[in-house]
Amino acid sequence: MLAFLILSSLTGREVLTSFPGLGTEAAPTQGSAHLKQCDLLKLSRRQKQLCRREPGLAETLRDAAHLGLIECQFQFRQERWNCSLEGRTGLLKRGFKETAFLYAVSAAALTHALARACSAGRMERCTCDDSPGLESRQAWQWGVCGDNLKYSTKFLSNFLGPKRGSKDLRARADAHNTHVGIKAVKSGLRTTCKCHGVSGSCAVRTCWKQLSPFRETGQVLKLRYDSAVKVSSATNEALGHLELWAPAKPGGPAKGLAPRPGDLVYMEDSPSFCRPSKYSPGTAGRVCSREASCSSLCCGRGYDTQSRLVAFSCHCQVQWCCYVECQQCVQQELVYTCKR
Ligand SMILES: *[C@@H]1O[C@H](CO)[C@@H](O)[C@H](O)[C@H]1NC(C)=O
Repeated sequence: MLAFLILSSLTGREVLTSFPGLGTEAAPTQGSAHLKQCDLLKLSRRQKQLCRREPGLAETLRDAAHLGLIECQFQFRQERWNCSLEGRTGLLKRGFKETAFLYAVSAAALTHALARACSAGRMERCTCDDSPGLESRQAWQWGVCGDNLKYSTKFLSNFLGPKRGSKDLRARADAHNTHVGIKAVKSGLRTTCKCHGVSGSCAVRTCWKQLSPFRETGQVLKLRYDSAVKVSSATNEALGHLELWAPAKPGGPAKGLAPRPGDLVYMEDSPSFCRPSKYSPGTAGRVCSREASCSSLCCGRGYDTQSRLVAFSCHCQVQWCCYVECQQCVQQELVYTCKR
């Protein structure tokens, strides 16, 4: 139920940008502006209530949607499906590998953005990570503040609500993939330390938790996408609910296995994404690399070649000790784009 975030950012962009940006001083209108921002996001009724109760959340949700979308587009820049969702949201209701990635990256982006918003002081109800070993007061004093992943994951599980639809394979898969995204952020949490004291003697050391850059999380999730596991369902007789099962592999156990907690799971084979459909705009016009990607990206339709001039710095010379002077040169470059 999270991929809606990405969509909210697409549909609501115009309206939302006209609102005061992040970190604005408490203007008299801010209270109602906050409520209005919550109304503009595509949220369930319960989520809207949570949003209204938590000043700063609407902006964080919007940031998260943007973060997730940008990362998805970056990770899929070389693929036939390049994460262009504008007007093509059919994917979210299916069980493709791409759907799995969207759920995971949205959950990861929200976890990340929320933990950061806490430590950056943009939320009213959370501040720094207060894990043992670092007193928050001390942290503030040194000007460091840990990313509050504990608050962020706790909030998120409440925000997403109780796991529903345990009888529904797709709901199970969505929940699983959402969890993969949250886990990916958690496993990127690092402890950073800083020394203080006379001339760096390290008499006092402060340490705090820091999230890794979201790009790294995106990379992890893209690898999970590449090795995603196709699942079907089986009813666990003993527990009386539905479970995800990866089919038996030749040479593996006959019964098949439950997917590992870190695996992205999917149920349906993806379409080719070659031609425009409700899932993608197709690959016509995509820029490709003749050596590497044109044959697969263009789906065998061939590519057009255009030449263009690009400027670059050349004939650089060191002047005196410290200045480098360059000339501008132009070079012809060939650009390949997939045919219609
Ligand atoms: C994805 O590809 C389409 C063409 O197939 C292009 O119009 C669009 O700008 C691309 N999106 C991104 C984010 O690169």
